[in-house]
Amino acid sequence: MKKPVIVPRYKGLRNIASFIQNPIPYLMEFGEVYGKTYVFYLAGLIKSSMTTDPEVALHVLRKNHRKYKKSTIQTESLAKFVGKGLLTSEGAYWLKQRRLIQPGFHRDKLNQVAELMMDEVQVYFEKLEKQKKISLNKAMNELAFKIVGRTLFSVDTDANNLFELSDVVSELQEYIIKKERKVYLRWWFHLSGMERKKRKRARDATKILDEYIQNRKKTQAEKGDLLDMLLSTRYEDGSGMTDTQLIEESLILFVAGHETSANAMTWAFYEIAKYPEIIDRIKQEALQCEGSLLERLKQLQYTEQVIKEVMRMYPPVYIVDRVSKEDDQIGDWEIKKNTLVLLFIYGMHNDPKIWNKPELFDPERFNETNINQIPKGAYLPFGSGPRMCIGNAFAMMEMKIILSEWAKRFEYKVLTKNVGLKPQISIRTDKEVFVEIT
Ligand code: HEM
Repeated sequence: MKKPVIVPRYKGLRNIASFIQNPIPYLMEFGEVYGKTYVFYLAGLIKSSMTTDPEVALHVLRKNHRKYKKSTIQTESLAKFVGKGLLTSEGAYWLKQRRLIQPGFHRDKLNQVAELMMDEVQVYFEKLEKQKKISLNKAMNELAFKIVGRTLFSVDTDANNLFELSDVVSELQEYIIKKERKVYLRWWFHLSGMERKKRKRARDATKILDEYIQNRKKTQAEKGDLLDMLLSTRYEDGSGMTDTQLIEESLILFVAGHETSANAMTWAFYEIAKYPEIIDRIKQEALQCEGSLLERLKQLQYTEQVIKEVMRMYPPVYIVDRVSKEDDQIGDWEIKKNTLVLLFIYGMHNDPKIWNKPELFDPERFNETNINQIPKGAYLPFGSGPRMCIGNAFAMMEMKIILSEWAKRFEYKVLTKNVGLKPQISIRTDKEVFVEIT
């Protein structure tokens, strides 16, 4: 590992408006010119070390993770709005919470929610069947939200006002990203009253969740879901989670658990529409699998390959950030304390030095043989190390059900052309993608 090249500061200021809209093309270009790891000034101001090097990614996330923490984008900017939940907390508090919540995502627990997921998908697809033209983005967002609500919190989103949460969360994410990218305009966000307005929106979200949680406490109904577990779980000293903790952890699961899967599914349907043979294989696999739902899901190997390839081409979380807590070293690269390291996952997943013709959508990259050829650390849609996504298996199960049930039930045509990337906290499409269902 060589010392990274420093990109001249003025280059971080060139085309700043379009960089803010979508930094991905610029970062891809920098990668070609300056190599896998380089030092770059975001908006000409914030010094960061950008990397697409799998070795660095594994070093920071796994091997030497103790020397790194999340940046303030998550632990302060996002936490200001959604509180300190698993995604936004750090250190000993995070570890205590992770240990507490992890069993809720254990494979046995997931197996119990598979039927619920399937049920939500069937009901939702029946509703879609009655429409001719649908917005994929809206449909996938709604469906993923319903799945998290139903499986983890036993919420019937049609009967409760929790749906408003989805809009609030989306709005807040857009605001936070805008604020982070337009660092030089932060003062304006405060003076204009925008910050106050958004904080009020965040409070609306917590109020909705609070009401729901208080209601559950009052009725003492046992649903056997994650919320039950959060309510009944005890720390070593015998105390339970406070109301604030319950709200914060629940909100984080809604935030982290629905838009990522929804975006992956929107990209999946957009991309595979170009390859009728891929859709046909997914459909045949879904029709031929047999046994219980869990056995059938295990047999959907090709469908899984397709999902993995979608997340290679369009990784929902396209940048993972860390800051060094102390000096560190990788080869000749001396990493000083407080260095912001940005792991550019999209760049890594689309690097021609790692992937043969990365611009081609090819699920065979993930077949039983080829998957072993992928260099270690080069494919990280769910991150790696102790802070790897807690909903990893949940999301894979959910996406397999959605993709296979869709292929069995619908034929469709994409109506929206020239769809591009809109990187927010996860990568959205830059316009709404409409499809006609036949
Ligand atoms: C395709 C879907 C998903 C993708 C691509 C994804 C990706 C990720 C990534 C990359 C991280 C690590 C971030 C970092 O290290 O800084 C993460 C963390 C997290 N994800 Fe996911 N995620 C998905 C679905 C879900 C679901 C369905 C849930 C919950 C229901 C969830 C809950 C979380 C939580 C709570 C964390 C923080 C974990 C911790 O720090 O302990 N995610 N996710």
